[in-house]
Amino acid sequence: SRRPGARTVVAAIDQGTTSTRCLLFDHDGQMVSLTQREHRQHFPRPGWAEHDPLEIWRIVQRIVPAAVRDAGLEPGDVAAIGIANQRETTVVWDRATGRPVAPAITWQDTRTEDAVAQLAAAGHAEEIRRRTGLPLASYFAGPRLAWILDHTPGLRARARAGEVLAGTMETWLIWNLTGGPDGGRHLTDVTNASRTMLMDLRTHAWDPAMLRLLDVPEEMLPRIVANTGPFGTCAEVLPGVTVAGAIGDQQAALVGQTCFAPGEVKCTYGTGAFLLATTGERVVESSHGLIPTVGYHLAGQSAVYALEGSIAVTGSLVQWLRDGLGMIPTAPQIETLARTVEDNGGCYIVPAFSGLYAPHWRTDARGVIVGLTSYVGRGHLARAVLEATAWQTRDVVEAMVADSGIALTGLKVDGGMTANHLLMQFVADVLDVPVERPLVSETVSLGAAYVAGLAVGYWADLEGLRRNWHRAARWEPTMPAERRAREAEHWADAVQRALGWDT
Ligand code: G3P
Repeated sequence: SRRPGARTVVAAIDQGTTSTRCLLFDHDGQMVSLTQREHRQHFPRPGWAEHDPLEIWRIVQRIVPAAVRDAGLEPGDVAAIGIANQRETTVVWDRATGRPVAPAITWQDTRTEDAVAQLAAAGHAEEIRRRTGLPLASYFAGPRLAWILDHTPGLRARARAGEVLAGTMETWLIWNLTGGPDGGRHLTDVTNASRTMLMDLRTHAWDPAMLRLLDVPEEMLPRIVANTGPFGTCAEVLPGVTVAGAIGDQQAALVGQTCFAPGEVKCTYGTGAFLLATTGERVVESSHGLIPTVGYHLAGQSAVYALEGSIAVTGSLVQWLRDGLGMIPTAPQIETLARTVEDNGGCYIVPAFSGLYAPHWRTDARGVIVGLTSYVGRGHLARAVLEATAWQTRDVVEAMVADSGIALTGLKVDGGMTANHLLMQFVADVLDVPVERPLVSETVSLGAAYVAGLAVGYWADLEGLRRNWHRAARWEPTMPAERRAREAEHWADAVQRALGWDT
């Protein structure tokens, strides 16, 4: 359905927690090409998790032209570039040289735990929630920025003088793509900004009270813009192509799944899992531990909000089984190992590696494995790892149902872990609703492409995007209610132990 004279594809860059990918999409939302590369994870101390921003930028410089080349295309065939990114990961760099002043502190890093506890002890939690929508937790970007400022001598003064710039990963990439030290544009999109704890959730401006509280100079912050640009032109990588979209990865998946109407829900299973429900043009507050956040904002229209249930550790628990414990050679092999046994053998794992996020928001929680007997073997542990993802999803869904009073009738899922049939069946079983995956399960990249394509008129409107959504797989619940209730109780007991670890 290529339109006469129209260029052929939109490029999406998905800068994720473990890898960066470039995908090209055609007008039907079909993937034309994919290039991917992992970057290193640095864990210099317990609870710390860092990335090298320059390594990530070099990967982008390589994979984007490669994706275009591999598809037999040229930069001139790319109508626009959209960026989706791991959110809350924080970078500070030198405006003149483009060199980061410190490693990027990633969203899973808990080093700001004490600073956050101090803000809580000083009674700021309620004010922060009212202004930014966010619970006081080490998950968000602002306290990380304050940490870098506190731990780099002279940096605040340099920031005030405009010599250093800050941002999340989309900001870092937009600046580099559009020229870096030679006129790079310093922008953040509103979905990423809504996760900094520095933005007023209703006005979409940096909140002076929050900047004062965290002692962050406004001079170093990017300008907040809608998800649709244009933002600037690529100086290199794909010279002349417009950088036209940017959106946090979880919001990108919401768009990629075409959850545009209030009540539509998706859950993306990546490093963590993130369930977002579109709520409409006004902020809906949660009384059960979900986060009001910006869902998407198309320039010239009203912003659309969402409620989010964030789960810190799902896919990264499988990685831990692979890399930390060496129990499986590759992540997909967890399914084979889990299928060697009938059930979890009584074992439950609560992966509170970064505390517990929604609906608990307890930075001090730590992971536990419970129910061990000498009967428990590797297969049972593999089951418990997968089941932890499903039970955490259920906890978030219960919060969402309690908030809205509306029962969930089905769940749209996407992300790498949805290739695991055993897990998806278990998710359907513990939620007791059907689970559906679209044909294009790369919804994060698709959402990034959609916002960029909308910005340049490659796609006309949201209705057109809806027609691109096709179901590829569906899992029906089969677990007897009594077993579900019994196991849910065991899981809840295990969670209590994770919450009580530090007390
Ligand atoms: O909030 C963190 C989230 O954006 C990271 O997503 O898919 O890289 O785990 P992912």
